[in-house]
Amino acid sequence: MWSYERRLQFPVNIKEPNAKLAQVIISQFGGPDGELAASMRYLSQKFATPYKEVAGLLNDIGTEELGHLEIIGAIVFQLTRNLCMEEIQKSGFDKYYVDHTLGIWPQAAGGIPFNACEFQSKGDIITDLFEDMAAEQKARSTYDNILRLVDDPDVCAPIQFLREREIVHFQRFGEALRITQDKLDSRNFYAFNPGFDRCKDCDDTPEPTPGCDCGCDC
Ligand SMILES: [Fe+2]
Repeated sequence: MWSYERRLQFPVNIKEPNAKLAQVIISQFGGPDGELAASMRYLSQKFATPYKEVAGLLNDIGTEELGHLEIIGAIVFQLTRNLCMEEIQKSGFDKYYVDHTLGIWPQAAGGIPFNACEFQSKGDIITDLFEDMAAEQKARSTYDNILRLVDDPDVCAPIQFLREREIVHFQRFGEALRITQDKLDSRNFYAFNPGFDRCKDCDDTPEPTPGCDCGCDC
C-alpha cells in the first residue's frame, strides 16, 4: 500500500505559459519512455522477482516514478493554464485541446496515447533488469532532448532534477543486476530464469551433484 505526501518531490513554479513546450514535455507523462511507463514497468515486474532486495528496489523506484509523473503533470498543467484561444491556435495546441481542453492526459509528444506495450514484465529477472537499465537511459536521453528545447529556468530546474534521477536509477538497476548475477552460476550469467530452468534434484548447484540422474547437464 502507499501513503501520499501532499507535496511534489521537486517544486514546480512556472510563471510563463508555453503551450508549445507543454506539447513536448507531455511525452514524459504518457510517452514511450515516460514516467507512467517507468512506474508501471517496475511496479508490475516486482511481483515475480525472485530476490527480496531486487523486488524492494523495483518497489522503491516504481514509487518514485509515480512522484515524477506528478511533477511532469504539474509542469504541463502550469505551462498551459490560462491560455487564450489565440495562443492555443498559434502554438498548435488546438489538436490536444479539442479532446482534452486543458486536462492532463497520458500521450506521447506525437499524440500517440499511452499503451501498456510501452513496457514489459517478462517474469525473468535478467530480462527485466536489462530492460529497466535501457528504460532509464531512454528516459535520460528524452530529458536531454527536452533540455535542448527549453530556455525557461523555471522549466529547466525540475527537468534537470528528473534527468539526474534517471542516472541514479540506472546505477541502482546495475547494482540489482550484479546482485542477481552473483546468485547465478557462470553458464547462466547473461540469461537464466531460476524459477523455470533449475534442476530440482540438484538444486541448481554449479557442480554435478553425485547421484543425480535427472538428465540435465548439471
Ligand atoms: Fe527513472
